[in-house]
Amino acid sequence: MSNESLANLLKEERRFAPPADLATAANVTEAAYAQADADRLGFWAEQARRLNWAVEPTETLDWTNPPFAKWFADGKLNVAYNCVDRHVEAGNGDRVAIHFEGEPGDSRAITYAELKDEVSRAANALTELGVRAGDRVAVYLPMIPEAVVAMLACARVGAAHSVVFGGFSADAVASRIQDADAKLVITSDGGYRRGKPSALKPAIDAAVAKCPQVEHVLVVRRTGQDTAFTEGRDVWWHDVVGRQSAEHTPQAFDAEHPLFILYTSGTTGKPKGILHTSGGYLTQAAYTHHAVFDLKPETDVYWCTADIGWVTGHSYIVYGPLANGATQVIYEGTPDTPHQGRFWEVVQKYGVTILYTAPTAIRTFMKWGDDIPAKFDLSSLRVLGSVGEPINPEAWIWYRKHIGGDRCPIVDTWWQTETGAMMISPLPGVTETKPGSAQRALPGISATVVDDEANEVPNGGGGYLVLTEPWPSMLRTIWGDDQRFIDTYWARFEGKYFAGDGAKKDDDGDIWLLGRVDDVMLVSGHNISTTEVESALVSHPSVAEAAVVGANDETTGQAIVAFVILRGSASETDTLVAELRNHVGATLGPIAKPKRILPVQELPKTRSGKIMRRLLRDVAENRAVGDVTTLADSSVMDLIQSRLPAAGSDD
Ligand code: WT7
Repeated sequence: MSNESLANLLKEERRFAPPADLATAANVTEAAYAQADADRLGFWAEQARRLNWAVEPTETLDWTNPPFAKWFADGKLNVAYNCVDRHVEAGNGDRVAIHFEGEPGDSRAITYAELKDEVSRAANALTELGVRAGDRVAVYLPMIPEAVVAMLACARVGAAHSVVFGGFSADAVASRIQDADAKLVITSDGGYRRGKPSALKPAIDAAVAKCPQVEHVLVVRRTGQDTAFTEGRDVWWHDVVGRQSAEHTPQAFDAEHPLFILYTSGTTGKPKGILHTSGGYLTQAAYTHHAVFDLKPETDVYWCTADIGWVTGHSYIVYGPLANGATQVIYEGTPDTPHQGRFWEVVQKYGVTILYTAPTAIRTFMKWGDDIPAKFDLSSLRVLGSVGEPINPEAWIWYRKHIGGDRCPIVDTWWQTETGAMMISPLPGVTETKPGSAQRALPGISATVVDDEANEVPNGGGGYLVLTEPWPSMLRTIWGDDQRFIDTYWARFEGKYFAGDGAKKDDDGDIWLLGRVDDVMLVSGHNISTTEVESALVSHPSVAEAAVVGANDETTGQAIVAFVILRGSASETDTLVAELRNHVGATLGPIAKPKRILPVQELPKTRSGKIMRRLLRDVAENRAVGDVTTLADSSVMDLIQSRLPAAGSDD
């Protein structure tokens, strides 16, 4: 079953060689793999020299107490200095660091020299507010430049930031502030969302009421909406940061000094505070951004559409791009405000050359129609990236054709909050890409696929994705819970990091991610991945998006239930449903035919775009729907349930 379906995904032999001009001038060539294989630690020691160290490290890795790694432990650096000051000192102060595009259409260009001044003022303000090296600061902001400034100011004074996504509720913020014991919270009055100001401060007021250790709340004025202020506790950014000196001498911290905590959403259990430290993290964020996007800082305009509240925003908006002196776009709003071509308008306006986005966005654009991007000039683009979940071959091909003009390589980058930076990805000037596969561990990274007994599977086999060697940007622990760190990631396979993802190797040894292992279905004794069935459904011209779950079934153990969003022109008929079942059967084999297919208008997703299959399983198994608080839009489940036919099989 598994090999057949993979063969099917590949049946058209769709492979894309790197564009010749890109390959000729690529930042990283094939030789990097051999170099890293020959001397992995030497390779990373060399990459660490991309940074400016106040004290150069002489040790690369200390792995004497696994799984607690120390990278570059005797080195000292200041992360903010590396992201800002050194570019100014190198004569690039006039280069734009950030082209900010607000949702209402306001825009600001911020040069590296201006960023240095603003980060220095913010660092002085943090000091005035009592923040010291080793403290934690919670950040709850919209996608505005102050979010970047706040993070860098924390790094500059050696305080760890804990950014909480602006869409999280007061309770979610409170538990994260508590867990990290943050003494300062940085927020704003609000941000613009779908054409309207949307308040943020009330959630912080409610959260901080439960967090007595918070001394101050520093508030950025973004929307100008009415905002309650607690005397003595709350202060405005424009007052306190605005009156500071733009001189601030960055102090060097140990390479293993905490840089940030980021809580993973986790579908079950208490959120995990993933701890990242300084030197190793910045080394890998900078190297991968340079290698995987082929960034040429003098000419490229880079745009990552993630929110700063996710790890993608940390590593590929703040630390990687700024360490590399990139010019980038930051966009505040949603892709459909004020119109569905907003992203392409932004690409055209700034001449974006490198675009990094998520499969969920790409599938949404597919659903909206090819004619929308076609109205804009996207000819500046040269590299396209994808992250967050497996990208279906169909969406990959659409992205390549309608956004990349059939000319841009696509880098499908696999990594996690825990890995800190990219781990598995094509290199745009080297790899012959295959739609739907993240392909190969990056130079210096060791990943493989193992079976239940931890044996490496042969090419053509499937199992669990594991990382077999420590890497510089690896999480150091779960904040305050070393045992949970060991149990969660290192206990399943002795000496290996278990990522929680299922994966396959194809006949060339390339890696295909199959989603979280909790999402694998067991149908009549066969393991079937939800990702594969979803890809098969989306490859039908009438289907825009699909989410597949295994529902308990008396006869088959689990039965496949598919929720599909149809494309604009398709209408939901019994004939179409039957056709889709047959299409999956023909693509993957009869065993993978969904028992039920339910057309819906929307799918339940987390705010980072991941489908919440747990909720769909509740629906498929006729249960009351569980906790919906992490949904981006909690009304989606009502909509789905109200449109469901009476339970039972479509057979
Ligand atoms: C999980 C990590 C990495 C930043 C955003 C998500 C899935 C991520 C891919 C990809 C297949 C992917 C995995 C992973 N994932 N990228 N290119 N192909 N799956 O960070 O929230 O920590 O989620 O996202 O399941 O384990 P995260």
